Amino acid sequence: MLSMSSVTSLYIHVPFCRHLCNYCDFYKQKFERPSAQREEFSQYIVSSLKRHESILSENHHSWAPLETLYLGGGTASLWDVEGARCFASLGLTLAENCEATLEVDPGAWTEQGLQAWQKLGINRYSVGTQSFDPHHLSLLDRAHSLDDTKVLLERLKGENFSVDFLLGAPEKNQNRDVIGELELLLSYAPKHLSLYILQPAAGYKLKSLIPDDEITSREYLRVSEFLRARGFHHYEVSNFALPGYESRHNQRYWESKSVAALGPTGVGYLEHKQSAFRYKWKPSSPEVEIEVLSSREIGLEQLYLRLRTSQPITAQRLSIEPEAFQRRVEKWQARGLCEPVGLGWRMKPEAWVILDSLVEDLFDIMI
Ligand SMILES: C[S@@+](CC[C@H](N)C(=O)[O-])C[C@H]1O[C@@H](n2cnc3c(N)ncnc32)[C@H](O)[C@@H]1O
Ligand code: SF4
Repeated sequence: MLSMSSVTSLYIHVPFCRHLCNYCDFYKQKFERPSAQREEFSQYIVSSLKRHESILSENHHSWAPLETLYLGGGTASLWDVEGARCFASLGLTLAENCEATLEVDPGAWTEQGLQAWQKLGINRYSVGTQSFDPHHLSLLDRAHSLDDTKVLLERLKGENFSVDFLLGAPEKNQNRDVIGELELLLSYAPKHLSLYILQPAAGYKLKSLIPDDEITSREYLRVSEFLRARGFHHYEVSNFALPGYESRHNQRYWESKSVAALGPTGVGYLEHKQSAFRYKWKPSSPEVEIEVLSSREIGLEQLYLRLRTSQPITAQRLSIEPEAFQRRVEKWQARGLCEPVGLGWRMKPEAWVILDSLVEDLFDIMI
C-alpha cells in the first residue's frame, strides 16, 4: 500500500477589496455587491474543496487537523460572518494548537465578523496598516484613514496580531519619517511585523516618486536595526517577530512543506517523498492549473527560500558542494553578509538587500 502524506496547512484567498489600491498586483474584485459576492465566493470555496479532494487523493495526500490556517486576500475580513458560516460548513478541523490567522483591513471589518471567526478558532490577525502617516496613506492610495487603523489596533490590543507595512513607498521631497511611524505603531504592541518593499503593478502612475534602490536599502537596514533594538527577531527578509511569535504558517512555505490552498488564484504546494507540485486556482471556475516541479527546480527554490531566513545554513542543507560553499561563505563573511553559528552560517539583513546576486553565486556549485 502507498504511504499517504498529511496536509496540515491551508491558505484561503478571499478576493474582495472595497477599493483597488493603484500599486497592487494581487487578484481581487471590487466589493460592490456585498451579499451576492460573499455568497458566490462561498459557493466557489465549497465546489473547490470537492475538486481538492481528488487532487489530494490522486497525489497520495489526505487532510489531517490543520496546524496552520491563513485567510488572506484581497480583504479576508470582508467575508465576514458569512465566511465563518461557510468555513464551519466545510468540515475541516483545526488542531488544538492551530495557528489560525485572519487578515483584517482597517475600516473593512465588523465586530460580529471578528467574533464569529474567533469562535471558530482564529487566534491571530494580520492588519494591513502600510503607513502610520495620513499624508503617506493617501499618497499610497489606501482607502482607510489613520483613525481607522487606530480603531482596529485598539480592538486587537492584547491579541496576537501582526501588521503589514510598506517601505520604498512614493514620497514627495523624501519627507517620510518611517522610524517615527514605527514608533507610533509599536505603542499598540504588535507581536509581529511584515515589512514589504513596494513592487508596484505595471503602469504605476507614481513611479517617479518612488525612492531609488539605494535609498530604500538604507531605509530597510535602518528599520531592521531599529526593530531588533526593540526586541524583534528579524527572522526572514520581510518578517520580524517577538520571540515565540514567528509565523508558523509562513515557515511552512520557507521550509518547502505542504500548504494547501483554496480561492481564486490561491497557490497550493504539495510535497511527497522527493517530488512536489504546485497548483493554482483559476479565477473563473473552481479548477486548477498544475505545475509539476523537477528535482532541479525543487533544489533551486529551496536554496532561495533558505537564504531568505535567519535559520543557519550548511552545504548539506542546501545540497551544495561543501568545499566550494565554504570558500564562498567566507567571502560573504568578509563583506559582512553572514556570520558563523554552530556548524552553519546565518545570513544578515545586509545580505538580504542583495539576495538575488548571492543566490546566483551558488548556482554553479549545487549538487
Ligand atoms: C495582498 S495584501 C492583502 C492585505 C490587505 N488587503 C491590505 O492591502 O492591507 C498583503 C500585503 O502585501 C503587501 N503588498 C500589496 N501590494 C504590494 C506590492 N505591490 N508590493 C509589495 N507589497 C505589497 C501589503 O503590505 C499588504 O498588506
Ligand atoms: S493592497 Fe490590499 S486592499 Fe489594496 S487592492 Fe491590494 S489586496 Fe486590496
